[in-house]
Amino acid sequence: MGSQHIPVLVEEVMNLLRCEAHKTYVDATVGGGGHALEIFKRASPDGIVIGIDWDEEAIAEAKGALAPFGDRIKIFRENFVRLPDLLEALNISEVDGILLDLGLSSLQLEKKERGFSLKGEGPLDMRMDQRINRTAADLIEGLSFQELESTLREFGEERWAKRIARAILQEREKKPVGTTQELRQIVHRAIPRRFHSRRIDPATRTFQAFRILVNEELENLRRILETGWTFLKRGGRICVISFHSLEDRMVKETFRRLDRDGVMRGITKKPITPSEEEKQRNPRSRSAKLRCAERV
Ligand SMILES: C[S@@+](CC[C@H](N)C(=O)[O-])C[C@H]1O[C@@H](n2cnc3c(N)ncnc32)[C@H](O)[C@@H]1O
Repeated sequence: MGSQHIPVLVEEVMNLLRCEAHKTYVDATVGGGGHALEIFKRASPDGIVIGIDWDEEAIAEAKGALAPFGDRIKIFRENFVRLPDLLEALNISEVDGILLDLGLSSLQLEKKERGFSLKGEGPLDMRMDQRINRTAADLIEGLSFQELESTLREFGEERWAKRIARAILQEREKKPVGTTQELRQIVHRAIPRRFHSRRIDPATRTFQAFRILVNEELENLRRILETGWTFLKRGGRICVISFHSLEDRMVKETFRRLDRDGVMRGITKKPITPSEEEKQRNPRSRSAKLRCAERV
């Protein structure tokens, strides 16, 4: 297992969720259990956490980390869009808070075999849930030029989408694009050198695009934002931490609409971002944005 995942914006999330005893929380992206552990610390002695993650390795990690809380932790290996079914199975109709900490955990990012990382060599897998039936390599092999281009443009916001799509097509005519470094090199060659940023790897947006596609990340987020809030008690809150602008835009617009409809009240007018100190301590937190809304 790679190094531990450091939870982001912990104090900010805990204050917004107002964690305390007798309450029930959903951690819909439990990962290594970092945020869940913090909820437990504040919700002693009887607060309950329902922890969800669809990644087998994350579930094993979370189970280990949260074992001391006995039956106060209910862990499920599921897509969080299945929250309504899980709550029904537990006979729980309302909860006090929901947390979504989107994106990847360090456990996933740092394991080269998972294919998420631009560094090192690994298979182009990128599935967060190992049960998903096609990998990034499968998609790259099977998509048409138009599909490749629109994926890069929409999910990567990549201005060089056309060139990269063309380069992938040319390359896969010779042989399938199977590894992270092969894809990275194709992107590096496709983008004119004078446009290579020194700060950010030129293939970052391409990797983001395929990851979003493989895991249907935006569709899953859309669905949980539509249904999640209906399980909150009055005054219950939902917190969402996102790591790129497509997610943050969706969270912002959904919260605004629910506010206009009079069913939720926005708590954060602007997204909360990590302090300089946190960014220094945990560089992965740099792009995090936290928004919160409350059930009316
Ligand atoms: C940033 S990590 C969460 C880290 C966690 N908050 C902690 O403190 O350790 C995001 C997690 O969400 C999971 N995830 C992403 N999309 C999911 C989905 N649709 N259903 C279930 N889990 C999902 C990922 O597998 C990953 O483990």
